[in-house]
Amino acid sequence: MDDTNQRRDRREFLKAAAAGGALAGAESLFPGVAFGQSAKIRVGLMLPYTGTYTQLGVAITNGFKLAVQEKGGKLAGREVEYFTVDDESNPAKAPENINRLIQRDKVDVVVGTVHSGVLLGMVKVARETGTLVICPNAGAGAATGPLCAPNIFRTSFSNWQTTYPLGKVLKDKGHKTAVFLTWKYAAGEEMLQGFRDGFTKQGGKLVKELFLPFPQVEFQPLLTEIASIKPDAVVCFFAGGGAAKFLKDYAAAGLKGKLPLYGSGFLTDGVLEAVGNAAAGVETTLHYGDGIETARNKEFRLEYAKAFKAQPDVYAVQGFDAGQLLAAGVQAVKGDIGNREGMIKAMASARINSPRGAWTMSKAHNPVQDFYLRKVIGKENKVVGIAHKALADPATGCKMA
Ligand code: BEZ
Repeated sequence: MDDTNQRRDRREFLKAAAAGGALAGAESLFPGVAFGQSAKIRVGLMLPYTGTYTQLGVAITNGFKLAVQEKGGKLAGREVEYFTVDDESNPAKAPENINRLIQRDKVDVVVGTVHSGVLLGMVKVARETGTLVICPNAGAGAATGPLCAPNIFRTSFSNWQTTYPLGKVLKDKGHKTAVFLTWKYAAGEEMLQGFRDGFTKQGGKLVKELFLPFPQVEFQPLLTEIASIKPDAVVCFFAGGGAAKFLKDYAAAGLKGKLPLYGSGFLTDGVLEAVGNAAAGVETTLHYGDGIETARNKEFRLEYAKAFKAQPDVYAVQGFDAGQLLAAGVQAVKGDIGNREGMIKAMASARINSPRGAWTMSKAHNPVQDFYLRKVIGKENKVVGIAHKALADPATGCKMA
């Protein structure tokens, strides 16, 4: 074969490979050509793009893409190609949805998701297939507890972490009794458990637990019940569109100003534009907030606003950090993502320079991070203190921890 033919054959082969052809044995055909390291990195985004958690999915997507942009649009010299699936926050469809990304789209990593029930379905498949998963929100404890695995990482929180610090917050305010109100699924139940652990440790009494099915928003009967109980404080978990409706209904029922309202910060994150004055004064705990005066946060907020014409929230930060975590892994192996062991090791020991403040992974692959006390002032979730420093999830049942 002369040089020209060789070059043409090689070009054709690369074209076919880029179009999705199998690369098995390619390196031995063309020694010295690092096929695996020049192809695009295939990232599957499995997130809600419809339903009550739509805005959360969009903010995570934006944040992730911003992190890649910050690296010049490439990770260790490799371009990134995105494949998206709307998981509809539907746990029943989770195995089918993640399998579409793994089998049809042949992704290298799945970034997802928001809803804890969906995450549990993804984790099952990830454990069976060994697929690398980075969870940018859903806090289901089992994912970094009994179902933890080397290939499963989370850049957000465990549900328990977000409400455990509230116990001391309420105690310091002099509240002795509380009612907890939430959607009945893993996230709500685990945030309830976190609050119960924190509040009872401080001598508080949880007098009533109230539930409604996800994603229902018929709050009125529950608000009537709360009014008749008259606890010192009301604590809840709702997020996205449901949280906005709850805040408005709480105020309309005349409870605002009478029964102090608290929650994990999802209650007020990303909804303040929509609820007007209804959220004023509500205090929450979360690992992000407005007014974190670090250079990293200021730069992130500026870049996000410029790119997406919107203000970032906690979901955007978690997506951004998912991108940063993947970048840390890919860079450590110089783009050779076939080196799974090297990549996982680097991701597990990464120190993420996050807009929320720097954080590290626990042995179970869940962030060890500060939780802020925030108060709604105007259109901001203003950080007013640290509710818990460097809080780690207990990771009960995780064999890696
Ligand atoms: C969850 O299902 O884990 C979740 C959803 C929205 C906000 C926070 C947690």
